[in-house]
Amino acid sequence: MDRSLKSANGVLPRHIAIIMDGNGRWAERRHLPRIAGHRAGTESVKSAVQTCAEKGVAALTLFAFSSENWTRPAREVTQLMELFLSALQKEIEELHRNRVRLAFIGERRAFSDKLQQQMRAAEELTSANTGLRLTIAANYGGQWDIVQAAQQLALRVEQGTLRTDQIDRALFESCLCLSALPAVDLFIRTGGEQRISNFLLWQIAYTELYFTGTLWPDFGASALQEALDAYAARQRRFGGLAAARQAQG
Ligand code: IPE
Ligand code: IPE
Ligand code: MG
Repeated sequence: MDRSLKSANGVLPRHIAIIMDGNGRWAERRHLPRIAGHRAGTESVKSAVQTCAEKGVAALTLFAFSSENWTRPAREVTQLMELFLSALQKEIEELHRNRVRLAFIGERRAFSDKLQQQMRAAEELTSANTGLRLTIAANYGGQWDIVQAAQQLALRVEQGTLRTDQIDRALFESCLCLSALPAVDLFIRTGGEQRISNFLLWQIAYTELYFTGTLWPDFGASALQEALDAYAARQRRFGGLAAARQAQG
């Protein structure tokens, strides 16, 4: 796939990444336990997957659990892990039927054996699918991603199979998560915060950023359409000039 920064100067993003934030506040506003918000959020996941698949978006990457989310109360972490497992078991067949290819990024050794095994099984089951590339970031951190890439390269230098001066942008990028997918065109964060919270760092160098106050459980098809419309109205320049001016030479 073409990984150049000048990816989709078109109307539809090829790759969308979303920080699904605001589940807890959605629940608190209803005087419900926070986990009820996380559960409601799984409906928005299904809706986003369906919309992206229908529209022909190539890849969707969702931030489900950050490397910092372990600092939450133990009870919430446990409930989230249970929810991941049950949602995966419940949805995998339908995802497979819809030709979705599912993958996970992040340090998965921290998860229970059972969850790791389900993650592997889901990836294997859907590995030959040619539809939407759905990636779930779980125990993922953008800084972790960069460090693990540096470690891969350092190991090759140590083993004598790579020289330091051979390390360039493209090689470094090939060691990062998502390198097999088109560049991230559109980044969405729901829930009102305007920060990256250690989600994709390197990969969003030229991504269009879209922040909305809508809480994740309320982020349905029409909210996603608004984000797509906003993206379509953006002018991407990648450090150059607008296409017409560029052509004037
Ligand atoms: C995002 O929703 C989901 C996870 C981090 C797992 P939050 O749980 O952060 O919801 P708020 O931000 O407290 O509303
Ligand atoms: C980011 O949301 C992580 C996920 C949505 C998985 P957080 O709620 O953890 O982010 P902060 O703490 O507000 O930065
Ligand atoms: Mg939050």
